[in-house]
Amino acid sequence: MYVCLCNAVTDSQIRHAVEEGATRMCDLRAELGVAAECGKCACCANQLRKETLVQMGANHPGRAAA
Ligand code: FES
Repeated sequence: MYVCLCNAVTDSQIRHAVEEGATRMCDLRAELGVAAECGKCACCANQLRKETLVQMGANHPGRAAA
């Protein structure tokens, strides 16, 4: 589903970017343009970011989820 309509960014793209190292909102903004325009997607994108980090921590117990 689309999370950021301004830049046509999907939840899958956000999850993938976080998994690839874009672990902060500023990383997602720089990489995908999330929340760089109207900002309405920021809350949802941040939630996805956090969920992905938790899942990464669960899948890789040795890796700390920030
Ligand atoms: S919906 Fe993402 S910046 Fe507008």
